[in-house]
Amino acid sequence: MLHITDPQVAELLDFRGVADVLAEAFQDLADDKAAVHGRQRTDCAGTKLSTMGGVWAARNVAGVKVYPTVAGQFSFAVILFDLSTNTPVAVLDGNELTRFRTAAITRMVASRAVAPSPRKLALFGAGLQGRSQAHALCEVFRFDEICVVDPKADPAWIDRLHARSGARVRLTTAEKAVRDAGIVVTATRSAEPVFDGAWLEPGAFVAAIGTSTPKGRELDDTTMTRAARIVVEWKQQSLVEAGEIVLWNQRHLSEKYVDLPELFGGRQPWQLQQPGITVFKSVGVGLADVATAQLVLSRARGGWLLASDEARP
Ligand SMILES: NC(=O)c1ccc[n+]([C@@H]2O[C@H](COP(=O)([O-])OP(=O)(O)OC[C@H]3O[C@@H](n4cnc5c(N)ncnc54)[C@H](O)[C@@H]3O)[C@@H](O)[C@H]2O)c1
Repeated sequence: MLHITDPQVAELLDFRGVADVLAEAFQDLADDKAAVHGRQRTDCAGTKLSTMGGVWAARNVAGVKVYPTVAGQFSFAVILFDLSTNTPVAVLDGNELTRFRTAAITRMVASRAVAPSPRKLALFGAGLQGRSQAHALCEVFRFDEICVVDPKADPAWIDRLHARSGARVRLTTAEKAVRDAGIVVTATRSAEPVFDGAWLEPGAFVAAIGTSTPKGRELDDTTMTRAARIVVEWKQQSLVEAGEIVLWNQRHLSEKYVDLPELFGGRQPWQLQQPGITVFKSVGVGLADVATAQLVLSRARGGWLLASDEARP
């Protein structure tokens, strides 16, 4: 069985490629050619073991991501099976894979749901995930301004983001960041709301990716109540895992929720018919990990590993 390490995964992936493969996988989920294996969590003495996965029948692969959580830190691995031979074919370190697929899913949803092109991005949390969220979105949107809210943000990264995006990038307060922002991303470890939803522009797109437990939330009730629509990856998992939904005092407003199978299946339009706030609440689903792992494996087999960019097929 092939073992693909985190540095190799990082070498093999790019945000656009992952966003494209995620779109294919969720289209197949809408067409009953793929299925999500929902997350299972087992707690013991302050640590946790979680598993999540998926079957992508259209591509003849199935797999699981498994990760312990120790002192709040994750360590991910993915095991992939070839269904045509019914054999395990690869085990992948999952830390880089998770980083890519989490940023790519925000990019995939935003690129379909956001219009017109936003000029300002507000980013809460410039850690591992937050930095990748900004990079993935800057490949799709041309921001004039990026406001970063994070007391621990690395000033050198702020400079690099400016060089990479061409936007004015500055560290600022929560209110200054959210006001006038077309896109707001929250990627913190906060269990409490990180901004007041009253500050949001009427047409803002908000991506909350930071918590996946029902006890914590980055978005407040005002944001959820003001949202015209709440997009989630997969209702069966998201509606019970997302603290933003579970703790929201009007969580029973089910007509606001739409998931990716409904959007890819054409049962709901990607763009709002009337101007309004869209919330994308991501908790992470296993089909995204399997689809991304399948992309890694096919690129590894196709000779991408250690090839220079010019040599890539
Ligand atoms: N949705 C998904 O699929 C998915 C996948 C992976 C990780 N996550 C989640 O993303 C979150 C971030 O993960 P990470 O690895 O980037 O963590 P990290 O520790 O590297 O970064 C978090 C950053 O948030 C900042 N921060 C904390 N509270 C803040 C606040 N109130 N306002 C602004 N900034 C604040 C911290 O200073 C830190 O720099 C975690 O909660 C993790 O569980 C979600």
